[in-house]
Parts: sequence; C-alpha cells; structure tokens
Amino acid sequence: MDTNIRKQLLVKYNAPAWMESLQNIPTHRIKAAIENTPIERWYLPGVPDGFEVYIKREDLTGNVLSGNKVRLFEFAFGEAIQHDCTSICSAGRTQSNEMRTMAIMASSLGMSAHIVVFDAEKENNEGNNLLLCMSGAHRYLMPNNVDKSDVDKDVWTRVKMLAEQIRKESGENVYIFKASTNPCIFGYLNVFDEMLRQDVESFSDIVVGCVAGKTSFGLGVGSHLNGCNIKIHSLVIGQSKAYAVTAMNKMLQYVGLQAPDGSGSAPEEFVHMTENLGAGYGISTQEEIEFVKQVAAQTGIFLGLTYSGKAAYHMVKQLNEQPEQFRGKKILFIHTGDVFGLFDGRMRNTYDNEKESVTML
Ligand SMILES: Cc1ncc(COP(=O)(O)O)c(C=O)c1O
Repeated sequence: MDTNIRKQLLVKYNAPAWMESLQNIPTHRIKAAIENTPIERWYLPGVPDGFEVYIKREDLTGNVLSGNKVRLFEFAFGEAIQHDCTSICSAGRTQSNEMRTMAIMASSLGMSAHIVVFDAEKENNEGNNLLLCMSGAHRYLMPNNVDKSDVDKDVWTRVKMLAEQIRKESGENVYIFKASTNPCIFGYLNVFDEMLRQDVESFSDIVVGCVAGKTSFGLGVGSHLNGCNIKIHSLVIGQSKAYAVTAMNKMLQYVGLQAPDGSGSAPEEFVHMTENLGAGYGISTQEEIEFVKQVAAQTGIFLGLTYSGKAAYHMVKQLNEQPEQFRGKKILFIHTGDVFGLFDGRMRNTYDNEKESVTML
C-alpha cells in the first residue's frame, strides 16, 4: 500500500467538548475497532447477593484485531501515518496483546512492525505469537543475560538503535511506539465518550485490570472531566502500583493535567489502585485458573489468565471481603480482551490432566 492510499484512511478526530481542557488532542486516527461494544449483565459466579455485575465487551472490538489495544493503536497509527512512516518499532513481552495488535494493524495498513522482545526465554510460536508471526512482524530477542531492570536504558535504547538502522537501510520514516507518551492514551478517553452514550453514569463502580494504566487512565480522567460519580478500581495485575503510577504520571503530563515537575493532578485523583493481587505478573494461582474455567463454562465469557481473568477473580474476592471499598452495588467490569493468551499452552496443560470431561463410548 502506498503512502498516499494510507493517508486516505486517516479520519479526522472530532474530540468531544468535554476534552477541551486537555493538551495534545489528536487530530486524526485510523478507524479499526468495532465500536459500541456491548455492556451486558454478567451472572458471574461468586458475586455476593446485592451486587449486580455487568461487563463491557472490549474483547469484541474485532476478531484477531481485538481487545483494548485496538482502541489505543487507532490514535498511534493515525500519528504514524501523518508522519509518513512505513515501519513501526516497539518493545514488549512475549505473548503481549499490545504487540500482537500492533503487528496486525501494521500489516493491515501495509506497514512493517519491528518488536524487541524482552523476555526471550519464554518465546514460542503459540497464542498471540502465532498471530504475530502470521502478520509478518519482525521479532528481535534480547539476550537473556541482559539486565532489564532499567527498561529505558536496556530496552528502549535498543528500540531506538533498531529504528535508526531501519531508517538508514531503507531511507523510510520509522515510528517508535512508546505508549505512555503517545496519542494512544486518548483511546480510552474516547471509549469513555462511547460509554456516556451507553448510560455509564448508571454504574457506581468500574473495575479494570491495570499494568501501565492506559485503560484506567482514560476511564478515570473521562469520568472525572464529566463529573461522574463513578469509582474507577484499577486492579494492578502487572508489575506494581509504582510502575503504573510512573506511567500514568507521564500520561497526565502528556494531556497537560500535570506539570513536568510533578505538580498538578496525580493518578490517585482519578483511579483507585489495589496491588499485590495474586502471585505476580503472568503467574496464575490454581484458584485463578479454576475461576477462569468456571466462568467460561457457566457464563460463556472467556477471560484470559494474565489480565482479564486475574482482574475478575480479584474483583469477586474484593466484593466478598471488602464490599465497603465499592461506591455502590452496580458494577461494570471491563473485559480488555486477551483470549489468545489462552492458547499459549498453559490452559491446555490443565485439561490434559483432566480426563473426566471426555467420556469414552
Ligand atoms: C488484555 C490486556 N488487558 C489489560 C492490560 C493492561 O494495560 P493498561 O494497564 O495499560 O491499560 C493489558 C496490557 O498490558 C492487556 O494486554
């Protein structure tokens, strides 16, 4: 696809009036998500009497190009195409939904995706990675012996070097995607606008899984700017609350709600974060695995182990153990769409040992 054709796919973004006070509002985006994803009543096992739980089906934003990340990349690719970029470079963990989405969106726009994978030891061609391979993305594995604790130094330096190399070799413009300082963070502000038309104000609480907080940020700031009386619960299922706070501070600065010296608004004004949930990022306890299986069998909703399943499990736990943490009784859970993670081998292994679901005739 040539650059001019790609440019014709840009759609002007008419931000709603309530975003007016924000800075860096994107002017254009690419339309890729199936919008107005349903909000449904969800009869989730284990929810105590008196609470009503609903689910926003962000797993239905598309087929392979699905989940919360599509909403983000609409704005990132909008900017990349405005800058005449033909390649996109970024970094992520193996089985990353973000990188899967980036790779598929790049291929759909005739662009090439280059991904630095920073946990190469877990790399395989299952689940999200299979889709990544099929989309033609280029993966670059970081050596196992590199200390990745300073992500800016160790990972992003490599992404920049890679982008520079591609630029030199091809002479083309390369877009570096780094989420917390990117127009992609308007993705969930825009989704909040969609939710306003879906009567979101009738909910007392919204619950969402959080790693860097891009989804939480959009919902929290959106709710705040609209004066909604909704408590946004960010269940930290990733690194730590500190990691999410650092990323969200950058997002607040990007939209002008926080000054570079940290004065102004803080993430906690918009979202309520809970951390230390479960056994750590990407590790599932037996109870969490059983919960994901039970929810699929009893409600027809398929949650992923790393994100949505862990968030839903800990939401039910909090509803039982700390009901006073909720503003009211009408709860909206955001399914961020991580079904392909179910195909990374872990879930299959649990059924391999469970012969009773198969009956010999
Ligand atoms: C499916 C899914 N849900 C939730 C998240 C959390 O992302 P964030 O905290 O940036 O909204 C991620 C990515 O990290 C994800 O892939």
